[in-house]
Amino acid sequence: MKLPSHFATFAFLFLHFIPDAIADLDSDKQALLRFSATVPHGRKLNWSPSIPVCTSWIGINCTEDRSRVIGLHLPGVGLHGPIPSNTLGKLDALMILSLRSNRLNGNLPYDVLSLPSLRYVNLQHNNFSGRIPSSLSPNLNFLDLSFNSIAGTIPTTVQNLTNLTGLDLQNNSLIGHIPNLNLPRLRLLNLSFNNLNGTIPSSLSKFPASSFVGNSICGAPLNQCLTINHPSPSPSPTYLTPSTLPGDTGKKLSTGAIIAIAVGGSALVFFMLLFVILFCIKRKNCQVSLASKGKSLRSEKPKEDFGSGVQEAEKNKLVFFEGCSFNFDLEDLLRASAEVLGKGSYGTTYKAVLEEGTTMVVKRLKEVVIGKREFEQQMEIVGRVGRHPNLVPLRAYYYSKDEKLLVYDYKAAGSFSSLLHGSRESGRSTPDWDSRVKICLGAAKGIAHLHSSGGGRFVHGNIKSSNVLLSHDLHGCISDFGLTSLMSSPTILSRPVGYRAPEAIETRKFTQKSDVYSFGVLLLEMLTGKAAIVQSSAHEDVVDLPRWVQSVVREEWTAEVFDVELMKYQNVEEELVQMLQIAMACVAVVPDRRPRMEEVTKMIEEIRPFDQHSLDQSSNTPTPDV
Ligand SMILES: *[C@@H]1O[C@H](CO)[C@@H](O)[C@H](O)[C@H]1NC(C)=O
Ligand SMILES: *[C@@H]1O[C@H](CO)[C@@H](O)[C@H](O)[C@H]1NC(C)=O
Ligand SMILES: *[C@@H]1O[C@H](CO)[C@@H](O)[C@H](O)[C@H]1NC(C)=O
Ligand SMILES: *[C@@H]1O[C@H](CO)[C@@H](O)[C@H](O)[C@H]1NC(C)=O
Ligand SMILES: *[C@@H]1O[C@H](CO)[C@@H](O)[C@H](O)[C@H]1NC(C)=O
Ligand SMILES: *[C@@H]1O[C@H](CO)[C@@H](O)[C@H](O)[C@H]1NC(C)=O
Ligand SMILES: *[C@@H]1O[C@H](CO)[C@@H](O)[C@H](O)[C@H]1NC(C)=O
Repeated sequence: MKLPSHFATFAFLFLHFIPDAIADLDSDKQALLRFSATVPHGRKLNWSPSIPVCTSWIGINCTEDRSRVIGLHLPGVGLHGPIPSNTLGKLDALMILSLRSNRLNGNLPYDVLSLPSLRYVNLQHNNFSGRIPSSLSPNLNFLDLSFNSIAGTIPTTVQNLTNLTGLDLQNNSLIGHIPNLNLPRLRLLNLSFNNLNGTIPSSLSKFPASSFVGNSICGAPLNQCLTINHPSPSPSPTYLTPSTLPGDTGKKLSTGAIIAIAVGGSALVFFMLLFVILFCIKRKNCQVSLASKGKSLRSEKPKEDFGSGVQEAEKNKLVFFEGCSFNFDLEDLLRASAEVLGKGSYGTTYKAVLEEGTTMVVKRLKEVVIGKREFEQQMEIVGRVGRHPNLVPLRAYYYSKDEKLLVYDYKAAGSFSSLLHGSRESGRSTPDWDSRVKICLGAAKGIAHLHSSGGGRFVHGNIKSSNVLLSHDLHGCISDFGLTSLMSSPTILSRPVGYRAPEAIETRKFTQKSDVYSFGVLLLEMLTGKAAIVQSSAHEDVVDLPRWVQSVVREEWTAEVFDVELMKYQNVEEELVQMLQIAMACVAVVPDRRPRMEEVTKMIEEIRPFDQHSLDQSSNTPTPDV
């Protein structure tokens, strides 16, 4: 009797659970079909029952095994009318709901918003009315209901959303008090332009005033709450409501105050002048002493400077590329005052200011393993390939037995690495999302151009954020290309591990696919704000960025992987997620799974269609000295 009962159990499991898994995607599909049938939409959706939901339907994302729908992205497709219940509310594995910038109205979809799986909600720029439901997914990470016509109060249950990192309710018709939101992860809050009243709870006073403007509320960070005690013309005693941001008292200054400011001001001007004069004198001294100490490129201390290997007979053999309008010779270059910009695996890089004021970058190569002829041939290729707005062009080179110099344009704005990480350390603000995307897109175009050059065999071999240089208008330009083949392999292998593809470490060979990997690391760096090698706090060991991101993303689809600085910006979370997907594709372990650089460029452009004009402006002209 035992056997049949086991069999029965097995049959039950089989019949019950296996079809159920299939039925789940099927029920998702039915729910979506009901949605598209009942909600009119301007642009046609290709949601046909006969094609696979997960791979072919527009705007749908599924789990990796394609068993459930987890994301619905239909921004700006002209959806209008209300979302009927029993449509999207049946997608009970849904994590991301993005229907922003449509013309949806009626009540918010209560059944969808309470789905426990739901994490990211973007319903901004519609015309939803009604109230915010008190039953919201406890796992919400991000809730954007801004620019609708939502009325009623902010439900106190928002207090329970402990995972919430962003709440944007601006430009609605919300009334009543702001609940005391003691949410540890909340980084973005915008309640501006509603009809809220009362006092801002102290738990929210750390947010900027711009999170609250356009309401009848008071308390930090807005003006103090003051009850008006004396009989006032208005019928009910109310709070003094702020119409302006703090700092603007609106009062006229007394004459005494004006005199005090005038006196103080002129004293200040005097001290500033004094300071400037002293500073100028000091600076002049510095320059003089620098020059007399022989900091020029050819000097008494030969080993220090890059001209030391130049032989008398070979002077003036600086080879310029055609189309280059510089009129300096090796003599000028050797006389220039030089400043070390950095020491890399290729050698030392100097910033050289010629006497006539032109600034150039001179790279002094070490451990070049090839002979003169080969070197010259390679430089010819590098010079030719480098004529692209997103590459730092090689202007000239010098070759002798003991000294190899490369001359490049100077990029005043430094490298992406210093912009991204340096500014964080010095407390300056980091580049915003638009700039980051622009820089990375430029870098991607530069690499794609390299990869298409030389019959498609050109490899960079050293992509990293410090090799992405910036023009003053933040064009990302790739530098240091065409140098790998000049070097001995130990030099090349001494490169920072974080950017090297696993197979490049193993085989000691660089390919276009390993360039793509390095670029993926660069994208992750931009998205996370972290360096290519990170200290993992949990395990206290050092991991590379792709592995760190994978570990965070695997554990929980969370906004925590992104740079805190990026959470400040409106409506970018979807772009962040898309960019993260591109980056993860680039750092795939199997080289063949990685997209080609040209595809990467296209994908980034699809996320962010910049106007072509600003991109086409070539930054080939040398940037002015600063
Ligand atoms: C999500 O869907 C979009 C478009 O529908 C697609 O481009 C993207 O690759 C999908 N992402 C994943 C992880 O499937
Ligand atoms: C939004 O909906 C309200 C009614 O809820 C209506 O009065 C208003 O005209 C709508 N606005 C737009 C732009 O459709
Ligand atoms: C919030 O996130 C944590 C991990 O990040 C998770 O364990 C938890 O279940 C989530 N939900 C709530 C309501 O805390
Ligand atoms: C949610 O918060 C309310 C108070 O606002 C509390 O009474 C309730 O128990 C909380 N619910 C959960 C599930 O934590
Ligand atoms: C709020 O949004 C509506 C429609 O999007 C717009 O007409 C109005 O000017 C906005 N109000 C404010 C204060 O921004
Ligand atoms: C705040 O607004 C609510 C609803 O409009 C109202 O009942 C309440 O009296 C207002 N409170 C104050 C202090 O104005
Ligand atoms: C909140 O929204 C208002 C109105 O759109 C905007 O001016 C303000 O900068 C926003 N504040 C924050 C902190 O996002």
